[in-house]
Amino acid sequence: MRLTLADTAPESFACDLLALPVPEPGSLRAEAAHVDGALGGRLAELAQDEGFSGKRDRTVLLQATNAPARRILLVGVGSGSAPEQFRRYGAVAVRRAREVRAARVALVASTVEAAGVPAEECVRAVAEGAGLGLYRFDRYHKPEDAADVAEVTLLARQAERKALDRAVAVADAAVRATGRARDLVNEPANVMTPAALAQVAQDLAAAGGFSCRIIDADEARTMGMGLFTAVAQGSAQPPKFIVLDYRPNGAGRTVALVGKGITFDSGGLSIKSASGMQTMKGDMAGAAAVVATMGALRDVGVPHRVIGIAAATENMISAAAFRPGDILRSLDGHTVEITNTDAEGRLVLADALAYAVRAGADEIVDLATLTGACVVALGDWTAGLMSNNQGLADRVLRGAALAGEQVWQLPLYDEFLEAMRGEITDLKNSAGGRAGGAERAAAFLKEFAGTTPWAHLDICGPAFAEGPRLPPYVTLGGTGFGVRTLLRYLTLPG
Ligand code: BES
Ligand code: MN
Ligand code: ZN
Repeated sequence: MRLTLADTAPESFACDLLALPVPEPGSLRAEAAHVDGALGGRLAELAQDEGFSGKRDRTVLLQATNAPARRILLVGVGSGSAPEQFRRYGAVAVRRAREVRAARVALVASTVEAAGVPAEECVRAVAEGAGLGLYRFDRYHKPEDAADVAEVTLLARQAERKALDRAVAVADAAVRATGRARDLVNEPANVMTPAALAQVAQDLAAAGGFSCRIIDADEARTMGMGLFTAVAQGSAQPPKFIVLDYRPNGAGRTVALVGKGITFDSGGLSIKSASGMQTMKGDMAGAAAVVATMGALRDVGVPHRVIGIAAATENMISAAAFRPGDILRSLDGHTVEITNTDAEGRLVLADALAYAVRAGADEIVDLATLTGACVVALGDWTAGLMSNNQGLADRVLRGAALAGEQVWQLPLYDEFLEAMRGEITDLKNSAGGRAGGAERAAAFLKEFAGTTPWAHLDICGPAFAEGPRLPPYVTLGGTGFGVRTLLRYLTLPG
């Protein structure tokens, strides 16, 4: 799909479908009133007949005659908060357009300006919604009706053309990166192996002009990554420790992004139940978000050096698998007793965090589908944020708020770390029950960040959507959660 911006009056733009946002309560104002005028008032009449009042996500579709647009679509945007309501508007409009086989779609984006929200943020939200809403994973099963929206034009009458062009370009980059992250998660574990993920990372690096280093099992072992390699040792798929390095000219800060890349989590010898294993191809969603984000850094103009690390391996069972009771040594020398092989994410992340510290990161953000406990705490549409540095935590929260992704901070009290201390080792990898499980996992990770500012996003809930009530710009399966938050956080002013 091609995303563009035009400065044309809606009533004279030729397309298959013209969408207009209508706030609640829904009288037709501004552009909508203009367009309706050209149609002799038929829009208002139809809206009245159908009881359309501008309620969020509701639509009215009119087949137009003698108008440049073949169809007119009214989309309710409710009375909720901008720019989220416009992200929904973009998605609802293009999905309806797809349903009615409209290929060239125009979305009015100049009346969506809301009090206190700059025009470029509104346009960006509509563009993001449209792009994200059209996502589908159809590699393995083409829809019966494969017709699709080919061109989306945002209509905005604006003096500040440059800012709006930029907003659309940046939205487009974020949409593509999110789509890539969704694809990586949706691909099954027999396809998206650690090696396959490494290949994707290499291709992105080659295309984006940044470097990529793949550390294999032997090298990781020699380097001392005893936790990462232990998780990998029961698998027939060779693990890949992926390091991407984006260095723009004049970069100041060095940011490390770290992703949990368990391409399949069986639980290991502390095996999961059959149902608990069903969606575990998605246990690499953190790595998917990191790799996909790296591919968009140049397009969105990130000014920092960014090191992207994806610790990719399966967590499987075999005669070679690591065992409960095993004692391991991390890259930075911590000893860890394994009390549960299903708490593998924190193990691979521990070595990855230590690697990031060693690589000279000024700050680290990790993303991981780490604990079911985080879903118990926050529900399945909010990520948990835990950090050793409130300044960094605040910037990540700010990025999430701008992106419209829900992130809520959880505490890292001393008691959480105390619980993780081992009897015969520095740490054990699991302790206690579900209560406080997200925080204890984070407390374990914190030990490996040392004094480097670090923020951890537990994306266990929002990384993988299982329905039923999803926002219209989200699809079942991989959501690409975190990509847009990271891109916002990496481009915060200052
Ligand atoms: N990958 C899982 C977490 C998970 C659960 C992700 C459900 C997505 C959906 C993680 O490796 C895990 O198994 N965590 C355990 C930790 C426990 C053993 C301390 C959990 O949450 O039960
Ligand atoms: Mn696990
Ligand atoms: Zn896992």
